[in-house]
Amino acid sequence: SSRRPFIVGNWKMHKTVAETVGYVAEFASHLPSSSSGCDMAIAPPFTALSSAVAAAHGTTLQVFAQNVAAEGPSGAFTGEVSAAMLKEVGCQGVIVGHSERRRYYGETDAVVAMKTRRALDAQLLPIVCLGETLAERESGAALEVIARQLRAITDTLTDADVHRIVIAYEPVWAIGTGQAATPDIAQQMHRHIRAIWEATFGASADTLRILYGGSVTADNIAEFTALSDVDGALVGGASLSPSGFANLVRGAL
Ligand code: G3H
Repeated sequence: SSRRPFIVGNWKMHKTVAETVGYVAEFASHLPSSSSGCDMAIAPPFTALSSAVAAAHGTTLQVFAQNVAAEGPSGAFTGEVSAAMLKEVGCQGVIVGHSERRRYYGETDAVVAMKTRRALDAQLLPIVCLGETLAERESGAALEVIARQLRAITDTLTDADVHRIVIAYEPVWAIGTGQAATPDIAQQMHRHIRAIWEATFGASADTLRILYGGSVTADNIAEFTALSDVDGALVGGASLSPSGFANLVRGAL
């Protein structure tokens, strides 16, 4: 697409502080100089965020969190981390509403919308994840499910928020399965998302970045970034090796 590509590595529950620091140093050494044409981020666990920020200082690699509290700015919420706390340690943004959060931790559309609001209010860039399950796709409900998940977010946005948000389409059946969506499926859904955004906010959908996620690798990334409505990728497994992730970024350029 004509939008600047954005490649994000979601580490999930992987890597210690020591591993994170080693990763960032090695990743930088593998990066092609042309990587300045692309936005890049890693999303380590909470415990490694401030070390990742320090290690990435002076590079173009950004650091995102994987989750944020729906409540704030502070309070009696044991185990939660606020958007302001993430901002303070130097995160540029946060992944919100990943399907693993929705499935294993009961995050509803309403909770995902609250988290998105918290991120925006703290000047963090939210990457809001949408995705249908295999059963939903097989029953023909995929487009409607994504529309419902998206409207929960768009309903809460002001005009000022519209350019400060990234959407990720991650079909649940493609995550960690080695079975990426076909380019046709990805393009159709990304167009659908952009059309809803356009209908809601007007021409501002031209700047909306929509990432694809689900079994993206260095070998298939170019098939996705070549699509007119795909603006980058949210990468799980293939982001865990620094040389592999650098290769994947190269494929997106
Ligand atoms: O957030 C990343 C996705 O869940 C994709 O994971 O690349 O391991 O399929 P994966």
